Amino acid sequence: MHIDYIKLINFRNYGMLDMEFSKNFNILYGDNAQGKTNILESIFICASGRSHRTSRDMELIKMGEDSYYIRLDVEKESGKKEIEVSYKQEEKKRVRINGVQEPKIGSLMGNLNTVMFSPEDLMIIKQGPSERRRFIDITISQLRPSYFFDLQQYNKVLVQRNTLLKSMQNNRRLVDTLDVWNRNLAGVGARIVKVRNEFIEKLSEYSEKSHRKLTNGEEKLTIKYSPSIKADSLNDVQNVEESFIKLMEISVKKEMEKCTTLYGPQRDDYDICLDGLSLKMFGSQGQQRTAVLSVKLAEIEIMKEDTGEAPVLLLDDVMSELDQNRQEYLINNLKSVQTFITCTDKDFFSKKSGKELSFYHVVSGCVLKE
Ligand SMILES: Nc1ncnc2c1ncn2[C@@H]1O[C@H](COP(=O)(O)OP(=O)(O)OP(=O)(O)O)[C@@H](O)[C@H]1O
Ligand SMILES: [Mg+2]
Repeated sequence: MHIDYIKLINFRNYGMLDMEFSKNFNILYGDNAQGKTNILESIFICASGRSHRTSRDMELIKMGEDSYYIRLDVEKESGKKEIEVSYKQEEKKRVRINGVQEPKIGSLMGNLNTVMFSPEDLMIIKQGPSERRRFIDITISQLRPSYFFDLQQYNKVLVQRNTLLKSMQNNRRLVDTLDVWNRNLAGVGARIVKVRNEFIEKLSEYSEKSHRKLTNGEEKLTIKYSPSIKADSLNDVQNVEESFIKLMEISVKKEMEKCTTLYGPQRDDYDICLDGLSLKMFGSQGQQRTAVLSVKLAEIEIMKEDTGEAPVLLLDDVMSELDQNRQEYLINNLKSVQTFITCTDKDFFSKKSGKELSFYHVVSGCVLKE
């Protein structure tokens, strides 16, 4: 799939942007703070319903204005999709697909698939479990809208159960009502665990392959799910659900003390290792960067396999961070993938003759096609 056209109104530092893109490499170059990443951000929002940089839509509205609007025209094998996302101060975000207003943000999922790779992605390795969960949640949601809705539902029930645990401090009799919440949480939680387990298994397999290619077979990359709920078979929803309920039953005292739910997908993590050693603890900066690249390439493969089409790749500021070999590998292996690349120095790409490259100069909220 590829994006043909983009329109932005009052988004970040763009008053009005209206332009077409090539289906191969689109190089957005320019000085710092001109609006290169803002374009990738707007594309990412249309794929996943949220920004990769902020959870506050207010920040996305151009200063002094009261709403933003994004439109992308996507060409897919199944036909064209016109995706519109808009947000007005103090109102809900709105989504339209092919001109039809959708009731939920989740309706965006599955219309446009993107893989974003930016320097912040190193957080997948360096930061805590919530960053790692966020990464897989965004990717899986793009492929499985039902997973996105399950996550929303799970978080809602989780908040309600935690509120109940707090209220139980003053009213012990409420303990009788906990059962219902346990069953609700475990039912939807088990579905999340199953999908995560399947996804991480696949991610590990594909990441290992791409990492082998990137490092000439020198290093073995593995990713292992570390679920909060231990069950005999993570692919068996009923089995996970029962284990989850049991765990909640035996830890009710501790949970009442802490006033929070101590087990479940909200505590999941996964380990990324090189030759069996934790990358977070033992990996060099370069090894970590290459590992993230391998994971991103794996994501592309998984999306291709799942949807039958290549996703759109968004590379924000990463080219200059990679060594010559890895840069070459990327350019040579992304032929069928529409790719957006931001950089400050276009000379690096100008030298790559023979490739289908389109250049766009970004200058304070204006884009000039060469
Ligand atoms: N809500 C907003 N309203 C107006 N301008 C904004 C808003 N949010 C961000 N900006 C401006 O957008 C610019 C940053 O855009 P962006 O992050 O796309 O830069 P960039 O070209 O990617 O730069 P770099 O090379 O440093 O990554 C800054 O000048 C910032 O002040
Ligand atoms: Mg940037």
